[in-house]
Amino acid sequence: MAKLGMGVVGVGTMGKQHAQNIRCLIPDAELIAVADADLKRAEQVASKLEIEHFYDSIEALVERKDIQAVVVVTPAKFHGAAMRVCAQAAKDIFCEKPFTLTVEEADEMLDIIAKAGVRVQVGHVRRYDPPNVKAKKRIEAGEIGDPVIFKSLARDPAPPPVSYMASGVNGMFFQDSTVHEFDLGRWLMNDEISEIHAYGAILVFPEAAQFNDIDTALLSMKFSRGTLGAVENYMQSGYGYDIRTEIVGSKGTIIMGYLQQTAEVVLTAEGAKTDIVDHFLVRFADGYLNEMRDFVQTILADREPKVDAFDGRQAVAVAAAAERSYREGRAVVVQNRTRNSRPVSRGMK
Ligand SMILES: NC(=O)c1ccc[n+]([C@@H]2O[C@H](COP(=O)([O-])OP(=O)(O)OC[C@H]3O[C@@H](n4cnc5c(N)ncnc54)[C@H](O)[C@@H]3O)[C@@H](O)[C@H]2O)c1
Repeated sequence: MAKLGMGVVGVGTMGKQHAQNIRCLIPDAELIAVADADLKRAEQVASKLEIEHFYDSIEALVERKDIQAVVVVTPAKFHGAAMRVCAQAAKDIFCEKPFTLTVEEADEMLDIIAKAGVRVQVGHVRRYDPPNVKAKKRIEAGEIGDPVIFKSLARDPAPPPVSYMASGVNGMFFQDSTVHEFDLGRWLMNDEISEIHAYGAILVFPEAAQFNDIDTALLSMKFSRGTLGAVENYMQSGYGYDIRTEIVGSKGTIIMGYLQQTAEVVLTAEGAKTDIVDHFLVRFADGYLNEMRDFVQTILADREPKVDAFDGRQAVAVAAAAERSYREGRAVVVQNRTRNSRPVSRGMK
């Protein structure tokens, strides 16, 4: 079978990882080129990965006929523009989360993608994290009865550099970070989040105030069939990258996630010591590889992606509702739509 010719656009922290996985660990794919608005960065990554072609724009990259699929890993503000260029050039797309920053742009993208007839997979990596994959299978097999409560917490070790927020291209906390939990909840509960009440605060990173952002969030949510969810998202654990999820069912519970990275415990008179997961590239190393492998196989086999543009759109809608809820101080109904339809609920509570 022919290999899938691929290009990666935006080779910063996350893009470099995807490019490296494609180049070194996915034999069914061939990394043809990378592009970055910072040409020097594109050149450095191309040189490190020993590939010939690098560009300073997505427009230049999609001109290549030997590229069939493009991985969009720019900051979120540019996802829509990049996907438009790919759709126009008839390239299939892997787009990092969040799909877009606004629901309006997400809806536009669904139309553009459908008209162009290209496939889109969204980088909601949690769906490819081995413990979560196992949990999903157990839930589907009925091992914990009916899922009743979705609980999740996500704590970053430390806030990002101030320049990350100052750039204004990554969306606020709900779009950039909590969006992972929104997609995970939808997927594990096999349902839409219909209503959300978000509390947010600036408790550890005062710099967030000047960017109208927050560093701490607690959210309560209702799913459309009446089940419930609770999410904590926090920027400064001070000890590591802590991601844990629990699904409580009518006959049992599944706990996903772990804190200890290495299977080693040091026991001395002072007590017991282990390491702690310190970075998302470490915690989700398997997930990033698994999602890209699946994307490559999906496109080569002419199938539809498992986490697609519609899923990306729904998670963006939950993030928008969360932001609105936080700013207005009340529960908000999510602007969900059904697959292949216009938005079904634009109402507010
Ligand atoms: N799934 C995950 O766990 C995860 C983790 C981190 C980041 N991400 C996502 O990946 C994306 C990138 O994040 P990052 O942390 O790598 O950011 P980054 O700032 O490290 O890298 C972004 C790169 O894109 C380039 N760029 C900016 N605008 C561009 C444009 N218009 N065209 C081409 N290149 C452009 C920048 O020069 C930079 O090299 C974001 O959507 C982010 O949310 C996902």
